Amino acid sequence: MKFGHFDDKAKEYVITNPKTPYPWINYLGNEDFFSLISNTAGGYTFYKDAKFRRLTRYRYNNVPVDNGGKYFYINDGGDVWSPGWKPVKADLDNYSCAHGMSYTRITGERNGVEAEVTYFIPLGTWAEVQKVKLKNTSGATKKLKFFSFIEWCLWNAEDDMQNLQRNLSTGEVEVEGSVIYHKTEFKERRNHYAFFSVNAPIQGFDTDRDTWKGTYNDFDRPDAVFEGEPRNSEAHGWSPCASHYLEIELAPGEEKDLTFVLGYIEVDKDNKWESKNVINKNPAKAVIERFDTVEKVDAELKKLSDYWSKLLSTYELTSGDEKLDRMVNIWNQYQCMVTFNMSRSASFFETGIGRGMGFRDSSQDLIGFVHQVPERARERIIDIASTQFEDGSAYHQYQPLTKRGNHTLGGGFNDDPLWLILSTTDYIKESGDMGILDEMVPYDNDESKATTHFEHLKRSFYFTVNNLGPHGLPLIGRADWNDCLNLNCFSEDPNESFQTTGNKKGFTAESLMIAGSFVLYGKEFIKLCQVLGKDDDAAEAQKHVDAMIEAVKKDGWDGEWYLRAYDYYGKKVGSSENEEGKIFIESQGFCGMAGIGVEDGLVHKSMDSVKEHLDCEYGIVLQQPAFTKYYIEYGEISTYPAGYKENAGIFCHNNPWIMIAEAQIGNGDRAFEYYRKVAPAYLEEISDLHKVEPYVYCQMIAGKDAFKPGEGKNSWLTGTAAWNYVAITQYILGVKPDYNGLSINPSIPSKWDGYKITRRFRGATYHIEVSNPSHVSNGVSSMEVDGKTIEGCIVPIQPEGTEVTVKVTLGK
Ligand code: BGC
Ligand code: NOJ
Repeated sequence: MKFGHFDDKAKEYVITNPKTPYPWINYLGNEDFFSLISNTAGGYTFYKDAKFRRLTRYRYNNVPVDNGGKYFYINDGGDVWSPGWKPVKADLDNYSCAHGMSYTRITGERNGVEAEVTYFIPLGTWAEVQKVKLKNTSGATKKLKFFSFIEWCLWNAEDDMQNLQRNLSTGEVEVEGSVIYHKTEFKERRNHYAFFSVNAPIQGFDTDRDTWKGTYNDFDRPDAVFEGEPRNSEAHGWSPCASHYLEIELAPGEEKDLTFVLGYIEVDKDNKWESKNVINKNPAKAVIERFDTVEKVDAELKKLSDYWSKLLSTYELTSGDEKLDRMVNIWNQYQCMVTFNMSRSASFFETGIGRGMGFRDSSQDLIGFVHQVPERARERIIDIASTQFEDGSAYHQYQPLTKRGNHTLGGGFNDDPLWLILSTTDYIKESGDMGILDEMVPYDNDESKATTHFEHLKRSFYFTVNNLGPHGLPLIGRADWNDCLNLNCFSEDPNESFQTTGNKKGFTAESLMIAGSFVLYGKEFIKLCQVLGKDDDAAEAQKHVDAMIEAVKKDGWDGEWYLRAYDYYGKKVGSSENEEGKIFIESQGFCGMAGIGVEDGLVHKSMDSVKEHLDCEYGIVLQQPAFTKYYIEYGEISTYPAGYKENAGIFCHNNPWIMIAEAQIGNGDRAFEYYRKVAPAYLEEISDLHKVEPYVYCQMIAGKDAFKPGEGKNSWLTGTAAWNYVAITQYILGVKPDYNGLSINPSIPSKWDGYKITRRFRGATYHIEVSNPSHVSNGVSSMEVDGKTIEGCIVPIQPEGTEVTVKVTLGK
């Protein structure tokens, strides 16, 4: 069952039934200022950091889910409704919610009135614009009472929920004309305030939430709206809000536009006040003026749409499969921007107060985004590297506002450092910017300890070398990529965290996933050294990589697949000897991508074992058999019910590792079969089961052991976005940036006839045509660049501004 449809031309998903199985959301904002918005106008806004600079309130874990947002109410002669259906939930004659590229347009119609609200954050602006169009579609004059509503958050979203004894007394606002200002704590330590304006005279307002709605009412029944009488309330503590009241008369067929602006202002310390206790409103007025006519607003919307068209045109596919095209050309790229911006901080499953930016998460997110805005990727790499410790290890997370490492969580996730090699080499291959390696980058943000960024990579590599366990395999630390495989945490206390406790000193457990990652990114490090002419560094590193390959072959191979780990006692994890958890996906993915033992058929065997034991109707599950009891020596992984999350759920993030490994050994058919299983556009028809958005990836789909296999959860913020984008574009479709050119080496379903890709790369445009006359999966038989045959499958870098035609023929 579907709840809407894709409109690829407009780059939108159009929801036509407000009762989606779960709120289906979108993100507004591309840099610094962001909002989350659901298909019924729920959600919130923040500046940079969803924890420290939350502008509007949102209650997670609410009943019903998704209550609170950017609401409008229409009182039409006593009949009250909302354009987004919620909060009032009056039946609508027409409803649609179009989620587009950084904007959402919600339209509702009832009793001859149509209300369309377009929410977006203009480029380079710390404000959300809400463009409202009201139309009288009836034959009679309409006199409407129109109310806006948002609820202010007192900035620190965590404190706002907890510290009520203080917070219910601190709220302060000012109202001037049609603008409501939120200035809580402005007179002390804050140099910022927020405002909510409308570009028309108002006939009333409210700023005290409970006066406006009535203490015992929910958002669906505010007294002021239902009685058609604003209270003109001024908030002093309690819960400040902002609601404008406008009386609007519409002749039959008449339309009216209104623009609301929800903005954030920072002022200098010396420039805070206009007079005693009256805030300096000039900067806010300047923002409001930028959007005071509908023409100005439309021009900004156009700019945003041009910006996205340009970004997305960096990689454009024409394959003949519309679902594939819309994933590659629109939604997967779009989600990559969102994960790059948010890491795992704020979604409808991440509350914005828990996790900031993750060292490993952000490094991986970057590989799906770097082609879009390489300069921003560069800045991110430096921010991440600045949270590294001198021994190469790293803070696991940092806060986006302060860019400082999170002390409570600390480090000790031993996979972390290696991701920095991946993100940096991908960035250099995309941009050609070797200069990043000479940047002086601090450790733990201490500038006095800065070294070159190259040195950071070297320390990332040697961190593994310096932390090997009894089998010469990498020590796992608190956990590797799998946060829930906590082999050094034996927890019997429900009040402690599996990730940070790590009570087994000695930390002897070893990880085959890190071993694979060390070989894979170690090879990347070596290649980088060679490109730089650092031959000694390359030779030295090669020895360690070779030793790791030997260690994996000797002690990391179980006969049919790669082991997953050695536990604290030195016992095998992910072996046929185990009762449960005999085979895991991560080590197959990483040792497979690294090609460990490929010459002896190890990768082929491992992939066949994945197919046999882990594949199911909805994707590849994380391990098998699922754990059915608590294994204290394994940690959190065995706490989840079978089939969910890390305990044999389909953890979509790691499925592309298998796609890549399959693609590399030429199994294009299998690679693409796996791709289709988790790609959301292919799941649209089963939206009722899948539950979460059909336009973006989710972190987890319930696996075959689960109560409801196929049900998705944790949509949007997941490394799934970047990895699937890399798997499909670089390994299956096969167009991959390299130091000296664009490598083209497809691994596709043999029945495909071919496809076309336009790729902008280092300032030139490559029009690539792949044809597959003899229906093979893999193997370039000839390649022509502008009519000239070239050897190998790397198109050399073309001069900036040029366009070239590349013809690739697959065959034996
Ligand atoms: C989740 C992981 C997550 C970890 C750290 C666990 O409960 O299952 O997916 O990465 O917590 O927040
Ligand atoms: C989600 C976390 O954000 C990510 O860092 C981790 O690798 C996966 N869960 C798997 O546990």
